[in-house]
Amino acid sequence: MPISPHVLLPRVPYGQGLSAGPSGAAAPVTSQGAEPVAPGAAELLAVPFSPDREPEIELPLPPAALLAHYEAKGEAGEIVEVPVANGDGVGRVLLYGVGDGTASALRKAGAAVARRGKGKEALRIVLPEGPVAAFTEGALLATYTFRMSETTSEPVRLEFVGEEAADEVARGRVVAEAVALARDLTNTPSSVKSPAWLAERALEHTVGEGDGWKISARVWDEEALKSGRFGGILAVGQGSVTPPRLIRLSYEPEGATGHVVLVGKGITYDTGGLSLKPTDNMKFMKTDMAGGAVVIAVLGALASLGVRVRVTGLVAAAENAFSGAAQRPSDVITQYGGRTVEVLNTDAEGRLVLADALAYADAELDPDVMVDVATLTGAISIALGKGLGAVFASDDALAAELIEAGEGSGEQLWRMPLIDDYVPALESSVADLSNIEAGSAYGAGSITAALFLREFTGKRPWAHLDIAGVGRSGADEGVLSKGATGYGVRLLLEWLSRR
Ligand code: BES
Ligand code: MN
Ligand code: ZN
Repeated sequence: MPISPHVLLPRVPYGQGLSAGPSGAAAPVTSQGAEPVAPGAAELLAVPFSPDREPEIELPLPPAALLAHYEAKGEAGEIVEVPVANGDGVGRVLLYGVGDGTASALRKAGAAVARRGKGKEALRIVLPEGPVAAFTEGALLATYTFRMSETTSEPVRLEFVGEEAADEVARGRVVAEAVALARDLTNTPSSVKSPAWLAERALEHTVGEGDGWKISARVWDEEALKSGRFGGILAVGQGSVTPPRLIRLSYEPEGATGHVVLVGKGITYDTGGLSLKPTDNMKFMKTDMAGGAVVIAVLGALASLGVRVRVTGLVAAAENAFSGAAQRPSDVITQYGGRTVEVLNTDAEGRLVLADALAYADAELDPDVMVDVATLTGAISIALGKGLGAVFASDDALAAELIEAGEGSGEQLWRMPLIDDYVPALESSVADLSNIEAGSAYGAGSITAALFLREFTGKRPWAHLDIAGVGRSGADEGVLSKGATGYGVRLLLEWLSRR
């Protein structure tokens, strides 16, 4: 069976293009100075470029003159290719701009450089000054590809030059590999990706222990979900031949400073159920577990980044299938904790599985903060497009922290309102709540979805990230490649590292 090889790698997978060595190998950072930095035949050399910086290699003209000649400004993402003497022949060197040298500039510069290595065997990159982790992250992410077939071309091997930045490079690599794992899981077709498969991958990539940390897991199968009264997850999963799972991953560092619960929507395929989606909308729905993939990938990277806070990840995994066993519009279900919900639209399934997980976390896990990540509503991409994630939060400080982490990590968030005026939209005449607005008096589908979730969060500080717009990219561009983006991994790792 053609399976993407990196999905099956133990513990930490690498995007094919991440060109890492064997699992866990140290980043190939070499020192500059010992050997001359010169481009070989099948490889390419890249050097940071700014008018007032002494270049690492001998250039045909002073940097400022080269900049002027190529009409370049040294902006992040700008690259000029210059000929240099190489033994008896002529070699080529990529001079890359670093802009203002901030993390976001270097991330962009890294991505631009790495993209120019396409088709090459190796790309040696002299590291810039400044936040090198962001640069490394950008370079590695830009070379990510996902294929379910044998690849004919080997991905470019990235080699970073500048050993004083080895720690930063390693950090960038950990983050990039976590994003690659989330992308791999999300890009995997649903014929492979059942809820049970997702649970196996989650355990494989997270459970373990090391110096001062431990990750343990529990998986609820359909029997355990029934006895635990997880009525939302069961109702969504009941129409599928691949039954649902609830996955709990517990990261416990020694001397933890607090407890964060992350909840991910893990719909392994969303047909809409009996409220069937049209083909053009349905074809992207293998990515409807992107939030769950983010939670798994984040849990897998916490130990390597030395995160000090206790983190519990919950992934509510189910396939929203179309079948004779599926739930019907107008069915009434009982969520975890006893609240009843009239299911007026079976395509509003994400909130049903998330409600169980949130209510469970509130009742059983006593977190300081809960954050859920979900491809929840198509409406959010109409509001914010494909470049901004949405954050809804019951707590202003939490919203501010997440937005700041988003800015630092290059995954921008925009705050959306949880307005009480719209709460009546979710009234039902037969149950405690309805899962969609029955009429059209209020509209604002993303807000009413968030308000539905809020009902299950108790009085706890909680944030909801709607990533339906940003979870999938239509093109290879910057740090993104066509398909899953892994959006949320970088921002949550940044947020948890700061806590
Ligand atoms: N998984 C979808 C949301 C989605 C849409 C994600 C487009 C990614 C891209 C979600 O389950 C859904 O179907 N939401 C409905 C809600 C509606 C029935 C109230 C939607 O957005 O149409
Ligand atoms: Mn749906
Ligand atoms: Zn969905």
